[in-house]
Amino acid sequence: MLVSAEEMLKKAKAGHYAVGQFNINNLEWTKAALSAAMELNSPIILGVSMGAGKYMTGYKTVVGMVNGMLEEMNVKVPVALHLDHGDYEGCKKCIEAGFSSIMFDGSHLPIQENIEKTKELVAICRDKGMSLEAEVGSIGGEEDGVVGKGECADPDECKKIADLGVTMLAAGIGNIHGKYPDNWEGLSFETLDAIQKLTGDMPLVLHGGTGIPEDMIKKAISLGVAKINVNTECQISFAAGTRKYIESGKDLVGKGFDPRKLLVPGTDAIKATVVEKMKLFGSVDKA
Ligand code: 13P
Repeated sequence: MLVSAEEMLKKAKAGHYAVGQFNINNLEWTKAALSAAMELNSPIILGVSMGAGKYMTGYKTVVGMVNGMLEEMNVKVPVALHLDHGDYEGCKKCIEAGFSSIMFDGSHLPIQENIEKTKELVAICRDKGMSLEAEVGSIGGEEDGVVGKGECADPDECKKIADLGVTMLAAGIGNIHGKYPDNWEGLSFETLDAIQKLTGDMPLVLHGGTGIPEDMIKKAISLGVAKINVNTECQISFAAGTRKYIESGKDLVGKGFDPRKLLVPGTDAIKATVVEKMKLFGSVDKA
């Protein structure tokens, strides 16, 4: 059964480790991520962007697929199904479809409007036992065609949003989605420290997990980050595994064109990436 992300993130914050959010795109992605979580006895958050939801034909399909896998694979570790960067309408649809967690990304809205909409969603999520992530200060980079630059959130605004009763808070600290440019200045630990001091026990979320050096990940966790989102890195692993299979001509041998063979190396590569990240984040055996 899907669970809210609240308990797993409270435990992570108190235990000084982070739970990974791995974005899914299809059945292979989901199977790979869940297999990794089972193998390492780790909690996991499956992230679904609005674009990925649309790609998979809609949120109800996603809920049906994930719930089916939890049962058929006999998954016992805590799994949350989470809308990533949802707008207000997207959040409403996922609540209705049976997600266990949502992110309302009102970071581009004027702070007052972000507050009003967040408040309304907090009440609905509380009622339904769901978790809610809010965002302050837009996370840069490109995600589903939305481009922003690596901003740092205002700690006072973070406190305002945290006080509305959200479960977890994403705050820009110079992080961006996708690959980091060569001239990236790194995470702003000063900002993170100021936010953590004002928000206390609130689990903080680090977006743009792809390509952040290990020492920075560890430092971010020590300063209150309890959830780290990874998307691009799994996509790169999948593409590399698939490329190798095709380029070595394996699809041309026997029934190598069978998708149940052709998609295996890419799927295994996603699983390996998820395993590596769970070890780095410290969530192994925390189920
Ligand atoms: P990356 O694609 O950079 O790993 O970021 C993922 C993310 O933050 C999803 O919200």
